[in-house]
Amino acid sequence: MAHQSDKAATLDVNALLTAIAAAPDANAAMRIAVERLKAELPHYMWVGIYLLEGDALVLGPYLGKPSPHTRIPLNRGICGAAASQKATIIVDDVNADPRYLACSIETKSEIVVPILRDGHALGEIDIDSDQPAAFGGRDRELLEPIAAMLADAWEDE
Ligand code: SME
Repeated sequence: MAHQSDKAATLDVNALLTAIAAAPDANAAMRIAVERLKAELPHYMWVGIYLLEGDALVLGPYLGKPSPHTRIPLNRGICGAAASQKATIIVDDVNADPRYLACSIETKSEIVVPILRDGHALGEIDIDSDQPAAFGGRDRELLEPIAAMLADAWEDE
């Protein structure tokens, strides 16, 4: 199957990290990350950031169709799994994953990257694609440094 992941390699990661680092506060940093990723990678159909509040993930800035999942308990969904395991999760076929909470009927694959600080999850970046198996190692290499940069932005608040 044709892989979309190489498109992530064409993005200037350093330019994006510089823009996030220059944001005046954590909210602006999150918005910039979401906007740039959505604008520059067309197969990123839905891009959002969830923030951990207590034992639930609460939807913050996002671009794409409104999601019914604005609050996800840590023990539910691919989102809950990534935050609980503190590890990136890539799902090639969301409909074959029993954890999947449907956001849009168009979604075929998903990547969730936790935003970690000192071993704790602060939140996560969640991206859906309308193409199966759209995400791979290139996307992880792009998104994990962005997640680390967002963790720094929170730390500086
Ligand atoms: N699919 C996610 C829920 C969030 S929506 O994709 C925006 C999950 O299974 O946790």
